[in-house]
Amino acid sequence: MEQYVIKGGNPLVGDVTISGAKNAALGILAASIMTDDDVLIDNLPDVRDINVLLEAIEEIGARVERIDRHTVRINGSNIKEVAVDDEYIRRIRASYYFIGALLGKYKSAQVPLPGGCNIGSRPIDQHLKGFRALGAEVNIERGAVIAHAIDLVAAHIYLDVVSVGATINIMMAAALAEGQTILENAAKEPHVVDVANFLNSMGANIKGAGTDTIRIRGVNRLHGTEYSIIPDQIEAGTFMCAAAVTRGDVMVKNVIPKHLEAITAKLMEMGCEVIEFDDEVRVVGKPTQRHTDIKTLPYPGFPTDMQPQMSVALALAKGTSMVTESIFENRFKYVDELARMGTNIKVEGNVAVIDGVTQLTGAQVNAPDLRAGAALVIAGLAADGYTVVDEIGYIQRGYECFEEKLQGLGAMIEKVDNDREVQKFKMKVG
Ligand code: EPZ
Repeated sequence: MEQYVIKGGNPLVGDVTISGAKNAALGILAASIMTDDDVLIDNLPDVRDINVLLEAIEEIGARVERIDRHTVRINGSNIKEVAVDDEYIRRIRASYYFIGALLGKYKSAQVPLPGGCNIGSRPIDQHLKGFRALGAEVNIERGAVIAHAIDLVAAHIYLDVVSVGATINIMMAAALAEGQTILENAAKEPHVVDVANFLNSMGANIKGAGTDTIRIRGVNRLHGTEYSIIPDQIEAGTFMCAAAVTRGDVMVKNVIPKHLEAITAKLMEMGCEVIEFDDEVRVVGKPTQRHTDIKTLPYPGFPTDMQPQMSVALALAKGTSMVTESIFENRFKYVDELARMGTNIKVEGNVAVIDGVTQLTGAQVNAPDLRAGAALVIAGLAADGYTVVDEIGYIQRGYECFEEKLQGLGAMIEKVDNDREVQKFKMKVG
């Protein structure tokens, strides 16, 4: 099993360029099959979840042409199948975006129900509520969502929970429904806006994305487009945190600073220097960083996908911090792994109380999920000695060239396959 081996102690210094947003690309790739014309998408992140979704798109009959590592041309005119294979939903939850896309275009979809995952049960009841409101008959049979509609007709839908996935899925189905759909209590994340902009570039008529009320006036058909994915807000935040934790000085390039405001604010409260430019931010860590409190909230609140990484920064800050995870019910599993490195964190329900320590020590740790895995790597970069992070497949789902980008900033990190390679790394770095 592949692992990362890290020797901590080097402040990260230099420039790192952020890739396209995984969570925008997943919705956009699903939406790309809603036309029979060619769709050209660039600035795709080359990460496992994107590559699995492209395989699933090919599997249902669409033509997928990889132009280069970050660019793909898709044509959905030959789709023969509205049933998505179980394999894909088991590998990535975002396959559920096929329900909105196929239902919108073919008025029919059969997609396996996604299971829970390591951060929570993650139901999709709000997605199904939206499809039913648009006139689809939706049943759960033999572990799959089966949705059919004679016609999709506009509706006034109120989401009981602010849900990124439900907002994107319902937007897709409503884009080809008759009349104007109003979606209230919608998610406002940058990747929701990116999917709306993509659909509009295909001829959809969506207004208000980025606010909590989105109006979707259905059109008869969608046409081809060329589109570039926005930069990944969470990858950018992860590198900003890594600069703070290692007391480094990093220019994070190819970002939209506005998308990073909550992260910037918290790093500055801790005493870091954060300087914003048009499309980059510079983060300078300070020897002594202060405690602060975090509560994860839907955008523009502090993003839940940055909670583990920020907790590592607070674990090495002076004083006591409180981190409240209000989005997912089980997103502190990494705390037990961090404890092996010498952190002092107590978790009570959805609150972690973090007493900062002055030094971490390297240890063997397991990545429990994508963002927690990145957080453990960040901890290893600051720890005294060697850290080995297991289960790094989680990390590769959402971070392109993670170890190479860190090496480019001076980190002593390598991907290894076995203990012999760990020993070789230790001999090499001393
Ligand atoms: C998206 O997941 C992201 N994934 C997640 O990022 C991110 O953590 C999450 O949004 C919140 O920002 C993708 O975009 C592929 P939600 P999603 O629906 O859409 C509850 C990462 O690390 N809920 O906004 O599944 C749900 O249980 C991943 O890149 C319902 O109750 O999240 C959760 O408590 C991890 N019913 C809350 O809403 C529903 O029908 C927010 O979930 C849907 C959601």
